[in-house]
Amino acid sequence: MDKLLIDGGTRLEGEIRVSGAKNAALPILCAALLTPEPLVLSNVPRLNDVRTMQTLLGQMGVRAKRDDGTLTIEAKRVDWPLAPYELVKTMRASILALGPLVARCGEARVSLPGGCAIGLRPVDQHVKGLLAMGAEIDLDHGYIDAKARRLAGTRFVFDVVTVTGTENLMMAATLADGVTTLENAAREPEVVDLAECLNAMGAKVSGAGSDRITVEGVERLHGASHPIMPDRIETGTFLVAAAAAGGDVTLTGARAGTLEAVLDKLAEAGSTLTVDQGSIRVARAAPLKSVSLRTAPYPAFPTDMQAQLMALMTLADDTAVITETIFENRMMHVQELKRLGADIEVESSTAIVKGVRALTGANVMATDLRASACLVIAGLMAEGQTTIDRIYHLDRGYEKIEQKLSALGATIRRVKETGGE
Ligand code: EPU
Repeated sequence: MDKLLIDGGTRLEGEIRVSGAKNAALPILCAALLTPEPLVLSNVPRLNDVRTMQTLLGQMGVRAKRDDGTLTIEAKRVDWPLAPYELVKTMRASILALGPLVARCGEARVSLPGGCAIGLRPVDQHVKGLLAMGAEIDLDHGYIDAKARRLAGTRFVFDVVTVTGTENLMMAATLADGVTTLENAAREPEVVDLAECLNAMGAKVSGAGSDRITVEGVERLHGASHPIMPDRIETGTFLVAAAAAGGDVTLTGARAGTLEAVLDKLAEAGSTLTVDQGSIRVARAAPLKSVSLRTAPYPAFPTDMQAQLMALMTLADDTAVITETIFENRMMHVQELKRLGADIEVESSTAIVKGVRALTGANVMATDLRASACLVIAGLMAEGQTTIDRIYHLDRGYEKIEQKLSALGATIRRVKETGGE
């Protein structure tokens, strides 16, 4: 198992390019199931989660070919509309195959994802939505068995705002008979990116980005080309890292409009942000100010940036109150930050972060993807060396993170468990 070694205390300076968004690429790869014609996707990040999704589609008989940043997926036939437990347990986003499979094949067998490190994460809304569209669903031995000759358009109101739930039903509705209206839909930019891809494939989706999405079902979809949007969470993570290290960094290929809540918090915390067409520059000369935040669905502050902002707040001038409202167990990084000397108390889903004078390098363990990013940032801020164990979490969602940070001047390297590099 690989580890990361970070020598903290270096300013970050320079320019790096943002990769394509993991959470846009994953649903869009599944959208390829909706047509027998090739879907040509550019700006696809090289991430373990994307590879897992390719494996999943491959097991169904779908072909994928990568040429640099472009991935061509051709679901000429879908031989086995099945997402087995072995793959779903490694990547919950496999549930995104459910809607497209039922719509295209009339049947699907998809393992229930079960809980994960950050919470219980049920998929009841995905199931309820498909039932409303006329699917027959059995829950059998931990599997969702869904059948529908042709799904029927309907009006469905989500009980909770769910990103993959919205994406699943939106994809299913593209081939349904009639009009589907999704109310209380997720407004995340990744939902919009998926809608744009579906429309390029001949779907009739409108309203994505608002809480009411309308999908007029069509008989068939066709092949298309689509560029995956820039990753707003990777963008935010590097902006926080630069602010944490007191540097001056420009991110190119970024879309500032997709992370305004994060930019606002960084500015409040004492950073200077300059947004240009396609780039964001962050610089911090002033001391860090404590800022409080509360996670919530888009456009509010994203849960996927909560851990990184908490790392930043460990060295701020006062007390920050950070409340997580999306996932019930997304504070696992707190105990690791404390190993570096952070002063944080957790009361249910709220962390009270009192700024300290300095963090000191230590051995810490990554517990999930964004907690890992938080520890990398804390390692960059700490005096001395920090070793981060279990960084396979990081490889699921950050493309070449250590190369990108090294390019900005960070002292960071990957070592194998055996000690070899
Ligand atoms: N929920 C339900 N029932 C459902 C679905 C969701 O109760 O049927 C609850 C969840 O338990 C959670 C809340 O609704 O409390 C929101 O969960 P959501 O369904 O929106 O999360 P998700 O779709 O499983 C996506 C991202 C996550 C990101 C969340 C929230 C992908 C592949 N994953 O997950 O990304 O945190 O939305 O924005 O898009 C990450 O990249 O690190 C990551 C975890």
